[in-house]
Amino acid sequence: MTEAQYKVPKGLAGVSVTDTRISKSASDGSLVYRGYPISEIAANAGFEETAYLVLNGRLPTRSELGTFTRGLLSRSKVDRRIFDIMRGLGKGSHPIDVIRTAVSALGSVDDERTVQEKEMSIESKMSVLAANSRRVPRGEAPRGPKEGLGFAADLLQMLTPKEASDFDRWVFERVLIFYMEHDMNASSFTVRVVASTQADPYAAASAGLASLKGPLHGGANEAAMEMLLDVKDPSKAAKFVDSAIEDGRKLMGFGHRVYKAYDPRARLCKGYLKEMLEKRGEDDTLYRLCDAIEREMWERKKIPPNLDYYAAPIFYLLGIEVPLYTPIFAAARVFGWMAHYNEQVEENKLIRPDSTYVGPSGLKYAPIEKR
Ligand code: ACO
Repeated sequence: MTEAQYKVPKGLAGVSVTDTRISKSASDGSLVYRGYPISEIAANAGFEETAYLVLNGRLPTRSELGTFTRGLLSRSKVDRRIFDIMRGLGKGSHPIDVIRTAVSALGSVDDERTVQEKEMSIESKMSVLAANSRRVPRGEAPRGPKEGLGFAADLLQMLTPKEASDFDRWVFERVLIFYMEHDMNASSFTVRVVASTQADPYAAASAGLASLKGPLHGGANEAAMEMLLDVKDPSKAAKFVDSAIEDGRKLMGFGHRVYKAYDPRARLCKGYLKEMLEKRGEDDTLYRLCDAIEREMWERKKIPPNLDYYAAPIFYLLGIEVPLYTPIFAAARVFGWMAHYNEQVEENKLIRPDSTYVGPSGLKYAPIEKR
């Protein structure tokens, strides 16, 4: 038996599995997309511009941005057969299962020819699928994109009929930008494993969705909101955190494999949440509640909140149903997935690690009647 040359830590923690030019997060709380600090992007860029940057490695010119935006919009129409499949899954289905099934079916229905066209089709349709992942299985008519809106504003109007102010829309766009890309997160790694087998982008995106579903990854934003709704009152934060720690329960929306001091995206979102409430002149209980749980958690465990923790109350204020939070994550992250798909394919080597066998050996086969 040949032995594996290296043994890596559980969960590949601290292991660099590839070189990448797409993005980098670090334990000091920094995050760059293609060399640009996230704060620089958040302050200046739009969603489509950032998506172009993540996919192509540089900011677009005005005409490149126009072509990219039109390319996305022209592919946003979802075939009726896909909606029929989604409807057939029924109202009890999980939105991420619905989107994953739809993206998988898209692989058979789509008539795009080149890999780049297939990717744009998935990127464009993902937001329509996400917005309709509850409506259509419930038997309601699908909501579609509207002429003249940008990606973020369009996704928001498909998600909720609630009118949003310009500032609220701007905040929603920032959150989508933060969700777009995050180096070797679990779903992007999954996408790269699938890409390394030379499977198509539909297969890779479906696998990415499967990986995103779990509460340790994309599912955390919904769980964080459920927790906030459950605690309700900032004065109950200390008791709640104490009992979670005592029971050995993890607080969803806290902790990160990379960020140990703070998550820069969560920090920015916390500021946006405060500003949203101030601009609306609304009661700030939700903000104080978030802040109180964050403080109690830091005091006891020195674990900071992650993006999901502060994205959730922002989505809540925007009037979006909680089960659509992870689908929103998917609608943004798909651009990052496709960037990873391309980078993997460009310098491909099949991802096929080894394992250390620790089971028994040399056993003698026993006939079934003797077991
Ligand atoms: N609540 C309570 N304790 C926690 C939390 C948490 N949210 N996160 C980590 N810890 C504790 C662990 O119990 C462990 O303690 P121990 O050493 O005493 O056993 C220690 O911190 C290390 O935690 P690990 O889970 O081993 O750290 P890892 O790097 O593997 O986990 C993860 C990162 C999965 C994100 C973890 O922090 C977690 O489960 N958080 C909750 C889910 C969540 O919010 N996920 C969203 C991730 S970000 C995103 O997808 C945008």
